[in-house]
Amino acid sequence: MSDLEASLNAFREAVRLAPDNIALAEHFVRVLLSLLRYDEAEQFCKSLLAKHPSSKSLKVLMASTYFRQDKNSHALAIVETLIRGADAYPPALVLHAKLMFRAGNVQAAVADYKLAVEMSDEVADEEFASLLGIRATWNDGLSERTDMQDDEGEVSDGRLRQQAGDDDSEIADEPEIERPKISFSDVGGMSKVKEEIQVKIIYPLTHAQMYAAYGKKVGGGILMYGPPGCGKTHLARATAGEVQAKFMSIGINDVLDMWVGNSERNLHSLFEQARRNRPCVLFFDEVDALGASRSDMRQSAGRHLVNQFLAEMDGVDSNNEGVLILGATNAPWHIDSAFRRPGRFDQVLFVPPPDAPARTEILKILLVGKPTLDIDHESIAAKSAEFSGADLKAVVDRAIEAKLQEAIRSGRPTPLTTKDLLASLRLVKPSTREWFATARNHALYANQGGTYDDILQYLKIK
Ligand SMILES: Nc1ncnc2c1ncn2[C@@H]1O[C@H](COP(=O)(O)OP(=O)(O)O)[C@@H](O)[C@H]1O
Ligand SMILES: [Mg+2]
Repeated sequence: MSDLEASLNAFREAVRLAPDNIALAEHFVRVLLSLLRYDEAEQFCKSLLAKHPSSKSLKVLMASTYFRQDKNSHALAIVETLIRGADAYPPALVLHAKLMFRAGNVQAAVADYKLAVEMSDEVADEEFASLLGIRATWNDGLSERTDMQDDEGEVSDGRLRQQAGDDDSEIADEPEIERPKISFSDVGGMSKVKEEIQVKIIYPLTHAQMYAAYGKKVGGGILMYGPPGCGKTHLARATAGEVQAKFMSIGINDVLDMWVGNSERNLHSLFEQARRNRPCVLFFDEVDALGASRSDMRQSAGRHLVNQFLAEMDGVDSNNEGVLILGATNAPWHIDSAFRRPGRFDQVLFVPPPDAPARTEILKILLVGKPTLDIDHESIAAKSAEFSGADLKAVVDRAIEAKLQEAIRSGRPTPLTTKDLLASLRLVKPSTREWFATARNHALYANQGGTYDDILQYLKIK
């Protein structure tokens, strides 16, 4: 037996002999965790909790044990019960902050952490605080502030540049200007989003004088969010085609790169380019690229970028007439709330997976121009619950591939049938479920102002 095993055994024995010494038992769990012995830590902690079901510190320890193993929803379920109201338990708040941080919700993480330390400075965690870009101990009035902190105690530019490494190249190329040929009729379902785009984005363009006559201010954009593959990008492109506008698609990474290159001017020139090309749909795609690893940017350095972006959107120095702004994201919870104020992305719309009638429409759209025979779209739609539009496209693509190979073998091309599509359907897994696993937590635990009620309704939780 190794020395380590021997001392662990002695420890185990000590814990066993003092069943009421929770502190000792908890210490043992921490030792196990530090040795990465997660299974034993988890089992032991569970057994402790069974004996002392109301101990808050044990509950937090249990949650930390899950947290260490990346079992985040287990951890969240526990800490959620300990952070509400006036008797919120500070260690639980800190763990909650870490869970929020891990989920990319830095604002919530900072808020939780600050609250926890205000309640009890014993829970201060310097390493985590510096990760959040805040001072570990701001309430003693004496702590030294580093030059990386700005007025709100958040890190400023320096850190981001460091993260960006030596790649400080500015984006040189202007994004491509497309003239999409597709229109709303190429997009299945999504009727609610189409309607909102009509009213908010298209009418102001096609009925500009009417709007002017009534003194109605035009502006602001629509942010679409939802599981991947459900047609957000497709619809943005179709919006441009619908009104014969030009189309510029900007990845949020482009925007970030611009900022890392410290050229807010580039962001300005992007908007200027759209203004020169009006009518133009300016589409900000994949805002979710601002994922957890980069999330501290928004909090700190990225704020300048955000401000610049918002000023452009507000049309502070320029006129945005004829520039239609759309955005899409799979992770709306990563987006700074400043983006959502009036005149900006003031409409945030959920794009759910297509329902059966929408799937029927999408299948019809996907099969246009393909050789088919008596396709029963409805029965395929009925069997493809939880499939995204992109999943359905994969089904069709696979069926066609199989058909093609068959034709090559037999030397005789035959049209695609319902049976072919159903066979292919069995090979494709619906991809939307995974997204809802994450979305559900945000909708349940970070649903300020009912932002995510649509998700809860979709999941039939509300
Ligand atoms: N509602 C839809 N109608 C028609 N095609 C769709 C629809 N949703 C998805 N698709 C197909 O799936 C592809 C991927 O969808 P995309 O718009 O990129 O999804 P998202 O941007 O929501 O992740 C599209 O290019 C299109 O071929
Ligand atoms: Mg997309």
